[in-house]
Amino acid sequence: MSVLTIKDVTKIFPAGNVVAVDTFSLDVADGELVCLLGPSGSGKSTLLRMVGGFERPTGGLIQIDGEDITHLPPEKRPTGMVFQSHALWTHMNVFKNLAFGLKLRRLPPDEIKNKVDAVLELVGLGGYGNRHVSQLSGGQQQRVALARSLVLEPKILLLDEPFASLDQHLRERLREEVRDIQQRLGITTLFVTHGQDEALSMADRIVVMRNGRTEQIDRPDVVYREPKTPFVAGFIGTMNLIEGTVSNGVFEHGGFRVDMPVVDGPATLAVRPEALDIEAAEPGQARVHRVTDFGTHGLVDLDLSDGVRLKSMVSHPDLFKAGQGVTLKPRAVAAYRNDAQIYRS
Ligand SMILES: Nc1ncnc2c1ncn2[C@@H]1O[C@H](COP(=O)(O)OP(=O)(O)OP(=O)(O)O)[C@@H](O)[C@H]1O
Ligand SMILES: [Mg+2]
Repeated sequence: MSVLTIKDVTKIFPAGNVVAVDTFSLDVADGELVCLLGPSGSGKSTLLRMVGGFERPTGGLIQIDGEDITHLPPEKRPTGMVFQSHALWTHMNVFKNLAFGLKLRRLPPDEIKNKVDAVLELVGLGGYGNRHVSQLSGGQQQRVALARSLVLEPKILLLDEPFASLDQHLRERLREEVRDIQQRLGITTLFVTHGQDEALSMADRIVVMRNGRTEQIDRPDVVYREPKTPFVAGFIGTMNLIEGTVSNGVFEHGGFRVDMPVVDGPATLAVRPEALDIEAAEPGQARVHRVTDFGTHGLVDLDLSDGVRLKSMVSHPDLFKAGQGVTLKPRAVAAYRNDAQIYRS
């Protein structure tokens, strides 16, 4: 049973006077997995490092189960952190890597052995204790790094892009395994990634970060379906974003018109490829640039009259070919003005 509370935490790096994290607040519930998602430099690692005690906040408060840990050193915190590059001790075997922290806690040898064996079993590396770290694959090394954190039974698990260096298939498998382990242990977890797939598939909630601040916090499906700003809309999944003008209740850009009962003025239209149907028509509103057949579906790249590129997901890609005209039939759109949503259909 552990909850993490981050309140108005700020980090200013004196070098260059960078505001890496800006009055950031977040509550992570017991057993919850929250993903921090955002572009490079948005402050994800800095925030995680402050929770782990590897970086001192310039201001604000961090609590675990109501206890102020803001200024405790890492080893005094009930947190376990797994870094992007696995920072294992390469001169030790797997067992010693895992036993190290337990020895510091002066646990008896047989208890250490039991705990290490159990956690190796948990991460799918039962029997690997005597292996040297250098004799393991990248994915196995990341599992050891995870096991090394878990064996200390942290209240809060902190993961900073732990699979970034691994190939796509392994990454997908490991994130499923980590999610399983996290749920089985019920361990409260903060997970940094800039992979949107990772966030969408693993998280109970996603925090989209921008310039050290929260742009949106919501469940993955909500972030995907109801992005609050054009930034979130463009960052999560594939999104067509079109700058245009609303006048007399109609949004218009380059021949693309959408009814939109809002006050006249500029607007950014957002429509997902899967919500943008197209029909063959001459001359149409857009021209097909390329058709890609993915087997399960097709993706059609389209150009508006001024060259703005859109994507449409279609179930029968063979119906379209490059150079052909189409009309656009958006089924669901959102529109933004001054970073706020003004319309959704
Ligand atoms: N030790 C440091 N000294 C000065 N500036 C730093 C330091 N560490 C990070 N920064 C700056 O703080 C900002 C946030 O960096 P951070 O590493 O938290 O980003 P990130 O979201 O983890 O990015 P990435 O996805 O690339 O890992 C960046 O502008 C970075 O240059
Ligand atoms: Mg980072």
